[in-house]
Amino acid sequence: ISLRPYNTLGVEACARWFAEARDDRDVFAADQAASHLGLPVMALGGGSNLLLTRDVEALVLHVCSSGVRVLSDDGEQVLIEAEAGEVWHPFVMQTLQMGLAGLENLSLIPGTVGAAPVQNIGAYGVEFSNVCAGLTALDRNSGRLHDFTPGECEFAYRDSRFKHEPGRWLILRVRFSLQRTFHSRLEYGPLRQRLAMQGIERPTPLDVSQAICAIRSEKLPDPKVLGNAGSFFKNPVVSVAEAGRLSREHPGLMAYPQVDGRVKLAAGWLIERAGWKGFREGDAGVHQMQALVLVNHGQATGSQLLRLAKLIEADIVERFGIHLEMEPILV
Ligand code: EPU
Repeated sequence: ISLRPYNTLGVEACARWFAEARDDRDVFAADQAASHLGLPVMALGGGSNLLLTRDVEALVLHVCSSGVRVLSDDGEQVLIEAEAGEVWHPFVMQTLQMGLAGLENLSLIPGTVGAAPVQNIGAYGVEFSNVCAGLTALDRNSGRLHDFTPGECEFAYRDSRFKHEPGRWLILRVRFSLQRTFHSRLEYGPLRQRLAMQGIERPTPLDVSQAICAIRSEKLPDPKVLGNAGSFFKNPVVSVAEAGRLSREHPGLMAYPQVDGRVKLAAGWLIERAGWKGFREGDAGVHQMQALVLVNHGQATGSQLLRLAKLIEADIVERFGIHLEMEPILV
């Protein structure tokens, strides 16, 4: 089966074994079938954080389970559980319509609920880990279900335990701790500016969500129109000394101090400064509006996109002495 419709970069690659899972029973069945065949299982949600460079020698399991339920509600804190196959943005909208706050800054992120913990999705000052109350996954090593506390997930910037143990855990459902009272998170400057421009002084979660949808739509290409996997590189985190050296050499460097005392640099700024914004070789390119996003103009292969990424990485090392790390999972 062609995986082209199942990855947002729109890259051609085939899966020899493919199954869809609508519920736990389907996941268990796929797990057993794969064990029988001696195959790894590759769980696939929206395919929005994936670079396929070859055919997949695994049982590709498209998780399309659905269901959202309230586990507890004390009038203020509400514990919500969603099945892994729920599509992320509609799920966010559903929680906002329920009058719950917490997910508004994560509006319009592509992908599914089950994929969110793997790379600890984040945007506009909020990360999945800030709202996660735990999750349930099937351990392929033992064949048993395990309930994870957020701590056990080892979340970090675009990182989690699940990224480091590929093929072991099949995430079935995820729990969220949401609130009725809104504590806005407006650290991201352009978000504050947009709300101010609209004359909104005390935004509701829905106001924040709408502003974020507008910001994302301006900068980030819609995968249905132009193949992409969001940010292709992580923003590098460096020491204060290194950030200082770089900003003396490169005035205008975008640098954000972190709580741990280190400094996060805007990789998009580095890549744009190096002249890659809008670059195109064949159908593999760098987005016109956001240098951190690689795009497929039509027929680019995964290898061509990977080649472009390697060229950019090498150029950034040469110009800035910074090693960029790829964000999507490489197959
Ligand atoms: N910038 C440039 N040129 C560019 C791109 C960015 O100069 O081509 C500058 C911007 O002007 C800005 C700074 O770099 O001053 C940061 O850019 P932006 O706010 O667009 O965010 P980002 O660092 O490029 C990160 C996340 C995004 C997330 C946004 C907003 C990563 C790898 N990416 O991007 O997440 O939406 O912040 O919070 O952390 C994703 O992971 O797929 C993703 C889209």
